[in-house]
Amino acid sequence: SFLDVAVNNDVDLEGFGACEGTLSCSTCHIIFKPEDFRKLSSKPTDEELDMLDLAYGLTDTSRLGCQVN
Ligand code: FES
Repeated sequence: SFLDVAVNNDVDLEGFGACEGTLSCSTCHIIFKPEDFRKLSSKPTDEELDMLDLAYGLTDTSRLGCQVN
């Protein structure tokens, strides 16, 4: 997932991925460009959508990074 990539590459994103991919935070919120969003193979689950509702600055092309492969 995006979270793994960020962690494995020591990307310094303050607070990113606080719950380590267990769908209990929204710190991994990512806003995709529409063309990139359409290319994502997975659709968000209800659990992801619930957590996304809490994310700051939610958009139509928002996903949680830890849930996107
Ligand atoms: Fe917490 Fe993705 S890292 S929901």
